[in-house]
Amino acid sequence: MRKKVTVVGAGNVGANCALRIAEKELADVVLVDVVEGVPQGKGLDLLKSGPVQGYDIGITGTNDYAPTANSDIVIITAGLARKPGMSRDDLLLANYEVVKACTEQVAKHSPNAILILVTNPLDAMCWTAMRVSGFPRERVIGMAGVLDTARYRTFLAEALQVSAQNVQAMVLGGHGDTMVPLVRLTSVSGIPLTELLPQDQIDAIVTRTRNGGAEIVKHLKTGSAYYAPSAAAVEMAESILKDQKKVLPSAVLLQGEYGIKDLFVGVPVKLGAKGVEKVYEIKLTESEKAELDKSAGAVKELIDVLKEKAKA
Ligand SMILES: NC(=O)c1ccc[n+]([C@@H]2O[C@H](COP(=O)([O-])OP(=O)(O)OC[C@H]3O[C@@H](n4cnc5c(N)ncnc54)[C@H](O)[C@@H]3O)[C@@H](O)[C@H]2O)c1
Repeated sequence: MRKKVTVVGAGNVGANCALRIAEKELADVVLVDVVEGVPQGKGLDLLKSGPVQGYDIGITGTNDYAPTANSDIVIITAGLARKPGMSRDDLLLANYEVVKACTEQVAKHSPNAILILVTNPLDAMCWTAMRVSGFPRERVIGMAGVLDTARYRTFLAEALQVSAQNVQAMVLGGHGDTMVPLVRLTSVSGIPLTELLPQDQIDAIVTRTRNGGAEIVKHLKTGSAYYAPSAAAVEMAESILKDQKKVLPSAVLLQGEYGIKDLFVGVPVKLGAKGVEKVYEIKLTESEKAELDKSAGAVKELIDVLKEKAKA
């Protein structure tokens, strides 16, 4: 039996997730959106690329959740994206309602699915999905770290004029301005980054990484990034579907690791058939730990707003 992935939200990120899954022949895809005709049209269009691109998978688009039943993975991209001048946090209350509504349907039709959240503000949306679905932490995972790390690796590769494939790095923390690129552990094929670039250049790249999403929003003006975000979400889905056990920075509910409890924060995890199969707790220096705490604090502020809203 072929695997099944539902992508909720047939917008820029969602449609590109569907395309990448199809081109890698990872699973049959069901695209869901609230707008009538959009998932159907995009689904059919994607299906028709099959004969040319050489993939044989099923792709359907729908406005209801019955066809999504028993999905192995559900990638949630539904919701508003940023416009220039907006922070990810400005999306909080609107996207809370969207993710809540989607997750209720997903949990009802695919009670055993693994959820990959993409909608912003990412860490708060993971919390929402977990609370609404009642799924264990192994099956509620947020995509941010893979994207933030890809941006960091890209900028470093550009500065060093080397292949981005050779840049090993990890960006931890929440998906926001307080994310934590781990410079100390960044290397190029094992050569420490600190031996390759002066500190001021590294600092400038760290700042550009933190603003990587805003840089794209500023260019696009009408929305936010989607090619790299869809690539990142699909790398996570692929590791799960093929049980590759890749170690990828992902937002996961911490239960005391790094001294943080009950918050979704980006840390290195092993992604395999069961979802999150291990949370790696690496030894951080005092200043790295302080940065991670600050980032977790920013996530907590949003969760506190949602907790109040959930009570009301
Ligand atoms: N985590 C990350 O790193 C990351 C990266 C990029 C984008 N994002 C976020 O992903 C989300 C989607 O971005 P996009 O560029 O695809 O936006 P988009 O506007 O192109 O697409 C969003 C889609 O969601 C649909 N939608 C809205 N409410 C829905 C509902 N209740 N059920 C089903 N579908 C619904 C809309 O109709 C639209 O088609 C945004 O919140 C954005 O901020 C996150």
